[in-house]
Amino acid sequence: MEHTTVISPAEIEKQLSYCQAVAERNARRPEEKLLAFVDTYGCQQNEADSECIRGYLEQMGFGFTHDEEQARIIVINTCAIREHAEQRVFGNVGALVHVKRRHPDTLICLCGCMVQQPHAAKKLRESYRHVDLVFGPHALWKFPEMVHTLLTQRGRVFQTPDVAGSIAEGIPVVRQDSIKAWVSIMYGCNNFCSYCVVPYVRGRERSRKPQDILAEVRRLVEEGYKDITLLGQNVNSYGKDLDKPTDFADLLEAVNAIPGDFLIRFMTSHPKDATQRLFETMARCEKVAPVLHLPFQAGNDRVLKVMNRRHTRAEYLEKIRRLKALIPDIVLTSDIIVGFPGETTEEFEDTLRVLEEVRFDALFTFIYSPRPGTPAAEMDDPMSREEKLANFNRLTALQDAISEEKHAAYVGKTLRCLIDGLSDDSRYDLTARTPGNRLLRVVGAAAPGQFRDVKITGANKWSLFGELV
Ligand code: 5AD
Ligand code: SF4
Repeated sequence: MEHTTVISPAEIEKQLSYCQAVAERNARRPEEKLLAFVDTYGCQQNEADSECIRGYLEQMGFGFTHDEEQARIIVINTCAIREHAEQRVFGNVGALVHVKRRHPDTLICLCGCMVQQPHAAKKLRESYRHVDLVFGPHALWKFPEMVHTLLTQRGRVFQTPDVAGSIAEGIPVVRQDSIKAWVSIMYGCNNFCSYCVVPYVRGRERSRKPQDILAEVRRLVEEGYKDITLLGQNVNSYGKDLDKPTDFADLLEAVNAIPGDFLIRFMTSHPKDATQRLFETMARCEKVAPVLHLPFQAGNDRVLKVMNRRHTRAEYLEKIRRLKALIPDIVLTSDIIVGFPGETTEEFEDTLRVLEEVRFDALFTFIYSPRPGTPAAEMDDPMSREEKLANFNRLTALQDAISEEKHAAYVGKTLRCLIDGLSDDSRYDLTARTPGNRLLRVVGAAAPGQFRDVKITGANKWSLFGELV
């Protein structure tokens, strides 16, 4: 497979001129306000990609809607991480056949990780003939050109090249929020955990240059953003591929030095690359939020090995111990897979023991879902669905009890929180986040986007409650 392609500024200029050409065509229909609908499934990286798609669409003269009937272009940004995500997309895309019948000139576009898989692209080509455009993550940067082709030539467009991946700067974005922003710092993954489809659909790790990332964060802070999340599949290996080697701890330090009152978060981290230097940097940098999402997936060493995680349970626990020694109030979250092929209930119980030892604040828990083309999909998987579900329920029950206890310990404390919106629960005025990103409902009057001291007065397993001081 060839190496990362750097998309030149001239290429992006060319894409913007395609936007211009589409905008000129759109301007010929002044009787109609042309609207676009962008629907996003999956992770924050997809949210960030959708902000680029919206950026391009805005340059093409489109406004935005959530109503498929009103939209003249529909873009569905898909996820492939589990089968369920895929089934939902196919269900919703199937239903769009009626929209296409009523409005034949509405363009239906599918992008993202799901369509990058050969089996999904084939199904779309053969059985979803109302879909006009299909493009994978590697082709996103040339979305305007593909839309222009659709509008000026007959036929459908499929762009799912099997390449190592590209990196582009200067794609316009329309952000969904005015307080919290995603900043991609790298793309792709080299880890090939045996259950995971991401390395196949998003290509190899490639890092943006520090100066491009810092310029983006500086701009966001000037615009008033307060909560910046640095995004990557595996941020801990940031910089390894750059000409001038640098690492994630250096980047964090440099982002922290940007003047302004804002919080820095990042995700996702891989335990094997989470270094003591990173933990020390987190502890030292006052803008870095005291929170770490560190997926461990399974608590048993045999299972971890077959998952190709390249860390043991003891190594994981040792890292957590060191991190807690440096940042005692650190909020910890993790991802866990239950029912990996061949995992016995006894082995699964090692996962429960990790929960008891670490006492995570919250977990993202998943039942294993076979993904075509991954090594795990070929492994023997003798455990019944019922047994996996029973284990899954044991896991969530244990975590619910821990989350409830951890939340209860907040009551009586006063924390500097970020007010991030208005509450939809009539008993509270505002929603906020603690420094560790726990959800909080607050009584009192304040404008979203401010940091305010909040006294915590109550808690349950999902949320905290409080009042402005
Ligand atoms: N089945 C179930 N969960 C999965 N994840 C990744 N691949 C699979 C799969 N095939 C989970 C992992 C990962 C999170 C983003 O999704 O826990 O950390
Ligand atoms: Fe998937 Fe593992 Fe890469 Fe995460 S680190 S994206 S789980 S292959």
